[in-house]
Amino acid sequence: MTKTTESCTLVLFGATGNLSRIKLMPGLFRLHMAGRLGPDMKILSIGRREIEHDAWHAEIKGMMERKFKNGYDEKAFEEFVQRNYYHANAPTDPDAFEKLSARLGDDSIFPQNLAYFLSVRPTDFGTIVGQLAEVGLVNEDKYWRRVLVEKPFGTNLETARSLQTELMKHLKEEQIYRIDHYLGKSAIQNAMLSRFTNTILEPIWNSEYIDHIQITNNETLGVGDRTTFYDATGALRDMFQSHMLQTLTMVAMEKPSDLKPESIRAEKIKLLESIRPIDVKNIDKQAFRAQYEQGRVCVGDGHGENVHGYLEELARDNMPASNTETYAAVKLWIDNERWKGVPFYIRTAKRMHEGNTAISIKFKKAPMVLDDNQNQNWLVMNIQPRECLKLELESKIPGLDPETRTMSMDLAQRIEGDESIDSYETLLLNLMEGDASRFLHINEVEAQWKLVDPIVKAWAEDKGPVHQYTAGERDPEASNVIFESESQFWRYSIELGGDKH
Ligand code: BG6
Repeated sequence: MTKTTESCTLVLFGATGNLSRIKLMPGLFRLHMAGRLGPDMKILSIGRREIEHDAWHAEIKGMMERKFKNGYDEKAFEEFVQRNYYHANAPTDPDAFEKLSARLGDDSIFPQNLAYFLSVRPTDFGTIVGQLAEVGLVNEDKYWRRVLVEKPFGTNLETARSLQTELMKHLKEEQIYRIDHYLGKSAIQNAMLSRFTNTILEPIWNSEYIDHIQITNNETLGVGDRTTFYDATGALRDMFQSHMLQTLTMVAMEKPSDLKPESIRAEKIKLLESIRPIDVKNIDKQAFRAQYEQGRVCVGDGHGENVHGYLEELARDNMPASNTETYAAVKLWIDNERWKGVPFYIRTAKRMHEGNTAISIKFKKAPMVLDDNQNQNWLVMNIQPRECLKLELESKIPGLDPETRTMSMDLAQRIEGDESIDSYETLLLNLMEGDASRFLHINEVEAQWKLVDPIVKAWAEDKGPVHQYTAGERDPEASNVIFESESQFWRYSIELGGDKH
């Protein structure tokens, strides 16, 4: 029998925003169709403007039409939409939260277990929680109350701590669900599970066998119309601080004793806290930044498109030139027995030659090296767009001589008929189920900021010109400065030969 969520109301702040329209509402519809929502589960969407009940239902229909271009189950939609209510929370109304409390208090409609999803400006997280608390809406005396906070959780260690202090005035740590949507990606979860569920992987997962690990997030997209946000943020804080470091935990953490949230999070915290702090004096050997300049990128259907450079995009939006990075590469060391001496090279960039996210593991030299052309083994865990594992092995070339060549084994994670589930769907369900294993504990957030803050600071202080790379091309050669050895290069593709430069 399919497990459904406990009876609860999901209260969606920021319901008229993009995330909600594109991901959350369609995700909830799919959870409904999968039979995962309890029979009386309700959704109360909160926005600033007044919207009549029927008009809101019509808006939700519009969201589904845009999302499911090939159509959707109309009958299921009619049932789903009946779960939906709308409430206007006028920012200028001093009694707004009293009114919200009165609305939610109608238990003939709304189950009293409440899951809040704060898809709002980060500066509003603390205020909203404070206002909910004032009217008793986070009180757990009789029912559970959980708050999901969108990213970013602070913009550095100090602001993350003060947000935490603000939230802790009203909430217990167990009530806070800090999201990183990468943890909802099935292939990221697979990176951890395939390590521990395969006898042949775990014994070689250490410094004795592994030369180095690359974690890559390449996008062909630029910053688009998010120049104001992006320029204040940069690749390091936008992607590296959480998505990339969380990916690192999946590949590098020790085996948790079981899959309970507290067990998984304890191992992740241990790992994050054992990353060696950045050596700021020698930062140029450990971290590299760059900005894209105009070029030509490959778009969705494979054809090329001329695009502007980052600084041109800033100028278009009347913003001054800046040093904000759109490419960030960082070398990390993990100070524990398993990873002694193994560099982790982590990079994230916009406007690259391809859009791909992968964990690539290069193994050490084989016990027998036949000639200089012999390649070392690679295991690539590809996260997106394709979810797969690729293993590159040496194999004898049939013939008279003892020669080998590299062959790539390709293990698709997905087989025909498998469900494709958006990460937000998984995380929404986890929130309602009370499973925090795929959400960040405050100690993880703090460890991440502790690591990133010194780089952000050093880069902000360095007013020198930032390296420029051509949009649509592979990694700038200058980024090689962070490699430990001349035998190490960025993998630019998961295909065979993708480790050659
Ligand atoms: C977001 C960043 O958190 O993640 C974006 O703000 C980035 O800049 C996006 O493009 C990447 O997410 P995904 O799921 O498309 O890899």
